Amino acid sequence: MPRIAYVNGRYVPHVAASVHIEDRGFQFADGVYEVVTVIAGTLMDEEGHLARLTRSLKELSIPWPVKPRTLRMIMREVVRRNRSANALLYIQITRGPAPRDFKFPAEPTPTLVITCRRTSFQPASALEKGVAVITLPDIRWQRRDIKSISLLPQALGKQQAVQAGAFEGWQVDPDGFVTEGCSSNAWIVTKQGMLVTRPASHAILNGITRQTILACATQEGIAFEERAFTVAEALDAAEALMTSAGTIALPVTRIDGQPIGDGRPGPLAKRVREMYLAHGGVADPVRAGGV
Ligand code: PDD
Repeated sequence: MPRIAYVNGRYVPHVAASVHIEDRGFQFADGVYEVVTVIAGTLMDEEGHLARLTRSLKELSIPWPVKPRTLRMIMREVVRRNRSANALLYIQITRGPAPRDFKFPAEPTPTLVITCRRTSFQPASALEKGVAVITLPDIRWQRRDIKSISLLPQALGKQQAVQAGAFEGWQVDPDGFVTEGCSSNAWIVTKQGMLVTRPASHAILNGITRQTILACATQEGIAFEERAFTVAEALDAAEALMTSAGTIALPVTRIDGQPIGDGRPGPLAKRVREMYLAHGGVADPVRAGGV
């Protein structure tokens, strides 16, 4: 069955989908995006992702290409046309095509692209053994709260991580505090059982998965603290984990080659994942065997 993409008002075969060569997304990374996980047909955290998209567009003064209500409809239609029960739905909005000029065009016609890729998520071993991360300097701009398509530092970081045999790179600020992963938020569990993650600010992307997990933790009475932690503290933690739409929540069992805790996934990482999935009303797609 051919994949179908949505581009500026049309549903087109994925292989034939294209945008203008002078699209400002292509020329200047002048755009924003969201990744929504679809599990068993449910668009996880749809409201949160749309709220963040609204914020990102506003911060960059990019007009909505369609009404938010219409966007919701198109998102569902793309999932339906791709017959994707488990998938990653990708939404990108740019300031659109314009003759190359740094300043904004007077009357932008924003580009909207939505794609859907089936996924079986991570292999079960990622849950059973946990994943490894390496730390690297955070070389990004100072508005990381905006989900900008300008992702070169994260792509470089992820590549460095993969070449080091790790799954993710944890970016570290000049003071030695972990900001976040290249495409995920970073968490630790202290030896006292406190869940810790960096507070939302311009220094990190306020993950939607992160926000839902913090709301669930509040409901379930799990102690947490929103504060920055150093690499040294992470190495000495009882547990570590990472969260994002694509990975949900994965235990991190090695940082820079050193085992965290006893080197095996800990109970809180497991509980956070279960809590998130239960909140969304879905079973774990990894344990359920994926697609
Ligand atoms: N990345 N921090 C960064 C830098 C990210 O790129 C992401 C998500 C997150 C987690 O946000 P959320 O929980 O809303 O997915 C944190 C997506 C998945 C991506 O770029 O593919």
